[in-house]
Amino acid sequence: MHDFRYVGKKLFCEGVAVETLAKKFGTPLYIYSQRTLTDHFQKLDRALAPLDHLVCFAMKSNSNLSVLRTIANLGGSFDVVSAGELQRVIAAGGDPRKCVFAGVAKTEAEIEFALRKGIYSFNAESEPELQRINKIAARLKKFAPVAVRVNPGVDAYTHAKITTGTYENKFGIAFEKIEGVYARASKLKNLRLRGLQMHIGSQVTKTSPFEEAVKKVSPLVRQLAEKFELEFFSIGGGLGIVYEPALASGSNSWWKSAAAKNILTPQKYADRLVPLLKPLGLKILLEPGRFISGNAGILVTRVEFVKRTGKKNFVIVDAAMNDLIRPAFYDAYHEIVPLTKKAGAMIASDVVGGICESGDYFAKDRPLPKVGEGDLLALMSAGAYGSVQSSNYNARPLAAEILVNGKKYAVARERQPVKEIWRGEKIVAWLK
Ligand code: LLP
Repeated sequence: MHDFRYVGKKLFCEGVAVETLAKKFGTPLYIYSQRTLTDHFQKLDRALAPLDHLVCFAMKSNSNLSVLRTIANLGGSFDVVSAGELQRVIAAGGDPRKCVFAGVAKTEAEIEFALRKGIYSFNAESEPELQRINKIAARLKKFAPVAVRVNPGVDAYTHAKITTGTYENKFGIAFEKIEGVYARASKLKNLRLRGLQMHIGSQVTKTSPFEEAVKKVSPLVRQLAEKFELEFFSIGGGLGIVYEPALASGSNSWWKSAAAKNILTPQKYADRLVPLLKPLGLKILLEPGRFISGNAGILVTRVEFVKRTGKKNFVIVDAAMNDLIRPAFYDAYHEIVPLTKKAGAMIASDVVGGICESGDYFAKDRPLPKVGEGDLLALMSAGAYGSVQSSNYNARPLAAEILVNGKKYAVARERQPVKEIWRGEKIVAWLK
């Protein structure tokens, strides 16, 4: 469910015509629906109500301060992967004491910063990391709360670049080794073993890999919890969303039919997992990113040119792979719709950006209505891993971001002024 839909011929985000925003703030433009963010957070939170649980939003998916504040205001907390993300949480008014800190390469400075801020738990990914955390905690005369990330050796059946729970991946510590690791970690005096964590991958669209992983790891959790008085078990994130058909998936009727189909909903997820998790008697943490932010955002772009080559119909737009890299990087599908509905035949089109690489495309041979210069298009489901993965490649400024709430809207991030791109760069003295 989300809050982007056509009203008459115009695409709306909640109570605001998207075209109004594009005209006022220019393109490329990210637009987020606060109601969708809220609805998705609450759907998951409520489905898990039978458990003592905490939803830690994986802010790597969308770290705009207004998005973070929306989640914090709902009682959510955050899964962070760098000191920078933790500083963003603090800047957004979130509570570091409810955050977990993941990642395979935490630096000494990052560990110290997180310890000083009272992080809820480090999710440690290796024994050298545990030793490093212990050493820094000792220096600061603190006890560091840690969970070890278990790699359950379960295939999530998702894109190779975002699967994490098999032994081919750099993440976590192999299931078979975990007991020994906890035994050794328990001897490190400045660690407090607080939990166990896992994450099998992202954009997982079935409940079965989650179930398989929880079933496999539960006996281990039980045993470790008893021995080391663990407080929580984090089952990670990874809940997949509907990318196709993205727009139709905003309607109630679509979801009613989806409930019967093989589509992952928070309720199905909870129905399968709660009975497995409840008997553990632990606090359950979740780290969803995409499920909360993915369908809550779109990227609006303007058609610059249409170029027919005989073989192809290229729709050249003002957004590019620097704004949204997912199609280029993961062959990801994003539905593309015009802001003003168009009648007439569909034309197979390649929607491409202006960057000097053939990989800079949003869609290939996609049936689209006939569009021309100045037409506005929306790339749907761009709220997760969209703006956060953007770059200044080709000296293109980062897009502006808007948050919509009912009929209200406001700039949540200003369009980056071009000169900001090289702020910090210098022409070194001997060149002058
Ligand atoms: N927890 C951990 C330890 C993770 O590594 C991730 C995502 C999450 C939670 C959140 O996963 P989610 O609920 O959003 O699926 N850039 C890629 C996705 C990378 C995911 C990285 N880790 C994309 O655009 O598809």
